[in-house]
Amino acid sequence: MSEKILVIGANGQIGTELVTALRNIHGAEQVIASDINNPAYAIRHSGPFEFVNVLDKDNLHHIFTKHQPSQVYLLAAILSAVGEQKPKMAWDLNMTGLIHVLDFAVEFKTEKVFWPSSIAVFGPHSPKENTPQYCVMDPNTVYGFSKLAGERWCEYYYTKYGLDVRSIRYPGLIGWRASPGGGTTDYAVHIFHEALKKGRYESFLSADTALPMMYMEDAIRATITLMNAPAETLSIRSAYNLAGISFTPTQLADEIKKIIPGFEISYSKNDPRQAIADSWPKSIDDSYAHKDWDWQLEYDLPAMTIDMLENLKNII
Ligand code: SER
Repeated sequence: MSEKILVIGANGQIGTELVTALRNIHGAEQVIASDINNPAYAIRHSGPFEFVNVLDKDNLHHIFTKHQPSQVYLLAAILSAVGEQKPKMAWDLNMTGLIHVLDFAVEFKTEKVFWPSSIAVFGPHSPKENTPQYCVMDPNTVYGFSKLAGERWCEYYYTKYGLDVRSIRYPGLIGWRASPGGGTTDYAVHIFHEALKKGRYESFLSADTALPMMYMEDAIRATITLMNAPAETLSIRSAYNLAGISFTPTQLADEIKKIIPGFEISYSKNDPRQAIADSWPKSIDDSYAHKDWDWQLEYDLPAMTIDMLENLKNII
């Protein structure tokens, strides 16, 4: 039977790429992109689109009734940096939106749900290096603890109602097709735009702030691989650690300099995002993803840098 896939939050950094990938796999008409805002041209014209506000239960119920999705990807969220400016709104959107979708997925017998978690579920007392799947978790951003609570809800709906929910703790995501939406890892996308436009970049994170990151091609492939994995192979129903590649702003700048030799980086001070980055892991242990669904990373730092600059230079 063919899938009917609803992607909520299709205009965002992940959604833009995921809708395209899913439409290539399943056919354009099978993938309903939805968002609270007007979509980009490519999303609007490559298949069906619906306006959806996940906080509006009647609106969301209507969309489930109309499309009877077999799979739902819920990507609508407020990220770490913006969440600190609008804490209550971030909690409401990230939590109430998730519970609405989980409830309707149970009611409409949706076969699979994907919901993204993040490295932000870890906190200052979590181990910093090779952070394991299971450890102390004391996130101190609203985004981080909304993701941790969300993971608990996902596992709860799996255990209690048999809902097939799957999730990944994404590292910072880097892609050229869409802009990031107000996170702490956004510097690693902005740096490429500024390198091409101005030949220099002022990083809001300090020179030696190591964070786990991942190229979007790998992130999309990981998401689709996890969603295609046989249910019985999955031992984790909260969210899987995913390591990606760990690097500092200096290491990324050095890589860019190999292609743009005159590129210069400087570092600003007192940016509130520094404290958020300092509370997160430097590197991640993702052995469960390798074991359960055979995960293998493809893009390392040099390969990602080459591909980013190659693609971005044609569109900016
Ligand atoms: N990349 C996100 C952020 O920085 C974390 O999931 O907020």
